Amino acid sequence: MSAGRLAGRLIGLGVTGSIAAYKAVELLRLLTAEGADVVVLLTPSAAHFVGPLSFAALSRHPVETDVLDLLPDGRIGHIVIADSADAIVVAPATAHWLGAMATGLASDTVTAACLATSAPVVVAPAMDGDMWTHPATVGNVARLREAFGYVVVPPDLGPLASGQVGQGRLAELPRIVDAVVEAVATRPIRQPDAAGRPPLVDHAVHEADLAGRRLVVTAGGTREPIDPVRYVGNRSSGRMGVAVVDAAIERGAEVTLIAGSVEVPLPDQARVVRVETTAELRDAVRSAMSADPDRLPADALVMAAAVADFTPRHPASTKLTRSDALTLELIPTPDVLAEVARDAADLARGSRPFLVGFAAETGSLERAAGKLRAKSVDLLVANDVAEAGSGFGTDTNRVTLLDRAGGRDELPLLTKRQVADLILDRVARALDDRDGREQTVGSTHGRPAG
Ligand code: CTP
Repeated sequence: MSAGRLAGRLIGLGVTGSIAAYKAVELLRLLTAEGADVVVLLTPSAAHFVGPLSFAALSRHPVETDVLDLLPDGRIGHIVIADSADAIVVAPATAHWLGAMATGLASDTVTAACLATSAPVVVAPAMDGDMWTHPATVGNVARLREAFGYVVVPPDLGPLASGQVGQGRLAELPRIVDAVVEAVATRPIRQPDAAGRPPLVDHAVHEADLAGRRLVVTAGGTREPIDPVRYVGNRSSGRMGVAVVDAAIERGAEVTLIAGSVEVPLPDQARVVRVETTAELRDAVRSAMSADPDRLPADALVMAAAVADFTPRHPASTKLTRSDALTLELIPTPDVLAEVARDAADLARGSRPFLVGFAAETGSLERAAGKLRAKSVDLLVANDVAEAGSGFGTDTNRVTLLDRAGGRDELPLLTKRQVADLILDRVARALDDRDGREQTVGSTHGRPAG
C-alpha cells in the first residue's frame, strides 16, 4: 500500500460541466499520488469538456456517467460509490450543480452519490465571478455548508475563462487535496475490501465510434535475411500493435493487420497479412492503403511495427559457413511510413487517411517532434524503450502523444490496451472532424454518403 496521506482510502471524484473540468484530471493524479483509490463520476455536461476515457485510464475504474447505468455485476454504480467512498470531492462544481445539490435534484450521478452517502463531501466551485456572488449561489453554498455539513473550498480570485478577473477560479488543487485529507483524517477506512468497492477495469468500455471505419495496423518486427537461416531483426513483440487491433475491433472498426514477427496471438476478427521483410511490409501497407472497390477505403494507418532500419546489401542464397570474421554491408530500408504519408491521398483516391507513427527512443524524447514532421504523420506515439515497464515485451507502456498542432500529452504508465484506446480516441475524433460528422456520445456512426 502506498504511504500517502490518503493511503487505503477510496475517494469519489465528482466532475461537473465547468471549463475547469480539465483540471480534475490533474486532481485525480494528485489524489492518486497521496495513495487514494479514486473513482470518477461525471455529469453529462462535464463529459463534453473531458471524456470519460482519460479518467477511466488514470483511475482504473469505470467512470459513472449515467444514473441509470448498472455495473457489469448488476450493482448500481453511484450507490456503490456512495456506500464505499471515504469522501466525495466535487471539483469543479458549477453554479447549476450547487443549485441542484442544494435542492436535492439527483438527476446526475454526482448529485445522486452525494445524496446517498454518509461520507464527508468536499465541494470546490468554479464559475464566473458574478455567478459566484449571485444571491442564488450564495444561498446554495450556505445550505451545503450549514444544512448538509459539506466542506466548501471557495474559488480563487484571478483571470476567468470569460477574460474578466474575479473570484471564480477553481481553488489551487493542493488546497482541495488538503481539504479531502482533513475531511477523512479521523475516520476509519469505510470499505477496505476491494469486493465492496467499485470494480476495476483493464480498459474502459467504448461506444462503437469506429463503426464503418477501416484501419490498417502494423505490428511486430521485420527481419532482413543475412542468409537462409539468419537475419537482422529487433526485439518487438507485437503487443502494442495487437492491442490497437483488439481495441479497434471492439470499437466497431474493420481492421487489416499487417504482422511481422510477433510473440502474441493474432486477433481472429482482423484480416491478417503476414510479412517478414521490410520490403514485404512496404508492399502490404501500400496495398492495404490503396483504394479497392471490394472494401472500405482505409481511414487510418497505425504504424506500430518496429521496422528494421537496415538490410544486408547482398543476402547470401546459401547458408554462410563459420569463418573468423564476417563483415556485413547494411543499407537503409525504405521509410515505409514517410512514403505512405507522401502518397496517402493518391493511394486512397479520396480523403487523406489519419496517420499514426510510433517513435522508439532511448533516453530523451527530444527527437520525437522532429520525427512527427519528417514523417508527416498526424499523431506520433513516442516512448522511451529503455525505461522500466515501457517498450519491448512488456504489457505496459509510458508514452507521450505528439500531434501536428504542437499538442503534447505525457501519459502515465498504462497498459498497452489503455494506450491503444487513447490513440483510438484521437483517431476517431480526427476522422469525425475530417468527415464533418457530429460526435454524438453513444451513437453508432454510419459512413457518410458520397
Ligand atoms: N518506420 C517505417 N519504416 C522504417 C523505419 C521506421 O515505417 N524503415 C516507422 C515505424 O513503424 C514507426 C516510425 O516510423 O512508426 C518511427 O520509427 P523509429 O524506429 O522510431 O524511427 P526511425 O525513422 O527508424 O528513426 P531512428 O531509427 O533514427 O530513430
